[in-house]
Amino acid sequence: MNDFIYDIPTKVYFGKDQLKNLGPELKKYGQRVLMVYGGGSIKRIGLYDKVMNEIKKSGLEVFELSGVKPNPSIESVREGARICKEKQVDVVLAVGGGSTLDCTKFIAAGAKVDFDPWDFFNDKWAPLTEALPILDVLTLSATGSEMDCGGVISNPATNDKIGRLEPVLQPKASFLDPTTTFTVSPYQTACGSADMMSHIIEVYFNMNEDFDMLDGFMEALMRNIVKYAPIAMKEPENYKARAELMWTGTWAINGFIDGGKRQAWSCHPMEHELSAVYDITHGLGLAILTPRWMEYCLDESNVDKYVQYAQNVFGIHGTDKMEVARKGIEALRNFLFGQLGLKSTLPQVGIDETHFDSMAEKAVKNGGTQHAFKPLAKEDVKNIYKMCME
Ligand code: NZQ
Ligand code: ZN
Repeated sequence: MNDFIYDIPTKVYFGKDQLKNLGPELKKYGQRVLMVYGGGSIKRIGLYDKVMNEIKKSGLEVFELSGVKPNPSIESVREGARICKEKQVDVVLAVGGGSTLDCTKFIAAGAKVDFDPWDFFNDKWAPLTEALPILDVLTLSATGSEMDCGGVISNPATNDKIGRLEPVLQPKASFLDPTTTFTVSPYQTACGSADMMSHIIEVYFNMNEDFDMLDGFMEALMRNIVKYAPIAMKEPENYKARAELMWTGTWAINGFIDGGKRQAWSCHPMEHELSAVYDITHGLGLAILTPRWMEYCLDESNVDKYVQYAQNVFGIHGTDKMEVARKGIEALRNFLFGQLGLKSTLPQVGIDETHFDSMAEKAVKNGGTQHAFKPLAKEDVKNIYKMCME
């Protein structure tokens, strides 16, 4: 077991009646707020008016940046940082899904520097040591951006999508109201659930000595997703299902389950290349990749972990370890492609082999997959992409 520091300094307001605390929370950090949101869902669901009302009730001055797209672009980051500087913004508020939250985090950092914010991601990897305070109102359960210190930004000009984690990007406060997710479509609910599942699987499968307690916690999180995602898809206004998914998604990636593990992730770097080049939904790409990656990595040296997963997440038992392991992978496929109804191959989402070579190269370079559960070199990544063709 490795030494580790546990520190998750985000204050969470969870539940239906918490927005009244938004104004006072923002006020702690100043008077001038930049509110960042996406393509309009928050207006359609009436959340825009509620948030504005709370901000104005507290006597704060508010500026806006709208139009943040899924797989958020560096262009929105640049524009947000520009507004922050021009209007001398004190605090930034994201209202939306993971894309809006991620974009807002780098706006907050971009506001503090004189260089182009893409320098945070390119080969310069510019120091990121300061940011405006970040708060958020989450509207989609998936990424965990509401309680982690990372984000992922796309640059359409270079076909890159790159993530970065820095302590100063940790939100100061997050507002998690499950009712704001009632309008999330069945498709986005499925993709968000696949994303959460992957966040746990990336940590669960590893070669370090584990805390039994954390393994059990991760298994409980995975069982919860398997149980509640289909319910939320069928009954979008089921508060219990939406609340379970929301809190599960937050805990899947807020750092708690890591317990000192320092292993690189595999499916996320491979997926970020897919959404960089083809602009597909992050959770959908992960759903396609994850079962193939599990198949690719399975061998005698790690089969016990697969058996533990198959037994404790899907209740699969048996004497032949390899068979139980394979059934566990099959159960995940059935969940993702059967119950959640997600597309199961790359051609089904319009992806062919054209960019496999360059995507594999970048996945290794940007994601460090050679340090993953099963070390993945460029050829391994290409092999996994090829497995996703059928
Ligand atoms: O743009 P609007 O109009 O708001 O519509 C969004 C968008 O079209 C819509 N939506 C959000 N809340 C809604 C809603 N529609 C109806 N009702 C609501 N309540 O859903 C669509 C998808 O939104 P998006 O924010 O893109 O989804 P998600 O939360 O899945 O975020 C995905 C992004 O997060 C990154 C992904 O790579 C991707 O770019 N990730 C961030 C992570 C992090 N910060 O730690 C980790 C993840 O692994 C992930 O990489
Ligand atoms: Zn993810």
